[in-house]
Amino acid sequence: MAILDKHKLIETNAVLLLILSFLVVTIGGLVQIVPLFYLENTIEEVEGMRPYSPLELAGREIYIREGCYVCHSQMIRPMRDEVERYGHYSLAAESMYDHPFQWGSKRTGPDLARVGGRYSDDWHLVHLRDPQSVVPESIMPKYGFMEDRLLDGEYIQDLLQAHRMVGVPYTDEMIDNATADFLVQADPDSDFDDLLVRYPGAQVRNFDGQPGISETDALIAYLQMLGTLVDFSTFTPDPSR
Ligand code: HEC
Repeated sequence: MAILDKHKLIETNAVLLLILSFLVVTIGGLVQIVPLFYLENTIEEVEGMRPYSPLELAGREIYIREGCYVCHSQMIRPMRDEVERYGHYSLAAESMYDHPFQWGSKRTGPDLARVGGRYSDDWHLVHLRDPQSVVPESIMPKYGFMEDRLLDGEYIQDLLQAHRMVGVPYTDEMIDNATADFLVQADPDSDFDDLLVRYPGAQVRNFDGQPGISETDALIAYLQMLGTLVDFSTFTPDPSR
């Protein structure tokens, strides 16, 4: 047959075979990848998701700086063992304000995507100070030094601005009030009504129980928020996605 004769040409010519295979893979790749660039199309909007509050964002910076992501993932896969251990599988929307994303690639420790509210602030304080005092066989390093490192919020406005540049919808109002919001979230005696309007569900308290805002305050504020924004009692996945 004529068409098979033509195929013989490809089979006997390595360069032609390479070029044509490359073409096929390129087309297949484009068909899969290009739609993902239209993010509206891939991320289902989910109620409750909001940009990180300034204090949470500062905690997230510390999480990245200390390389917590090297041992911890933040991505619960939709498999039964994971869902039973960690809770509802992660939604794309839950990472939409993460730059860079914190899915991680290895679990030396447990997944942290829904660690928020699972333990008390005191537990985190003691665990960060000395993980082995809570979990004797833990190989997690000690992070007690963070309690003595105080943050003044000097660069918090720049941090929000940087995240706005890469697509997080921080408003002018959020940026203008970044330093104030940062200070207020760790001080339950302050007037934090505006903070809660800007960042619904933000948890306000003195996370490390010590005066001043330490890196530990910011980190615990971040950990206690993880996975708590979406209300899964009212969330129904859209099957068409
Ligand atoms: C060398 C790997 C390693 C690094 C780095 C690491 N951890 Fe861990 N982490 C672990 C292991 C192992 C456990 C489980 C035992 C335990 O609870 O200590 C754990 C447990 C935890 C838990 C309790 C999770 C749960 O559901 O019980 C939290 C919270 C946590 N780590 C936060 C952090 C933070 C924040 C950082 C960065 C400041 C960090 N970890 C860095 C290994 C690590």
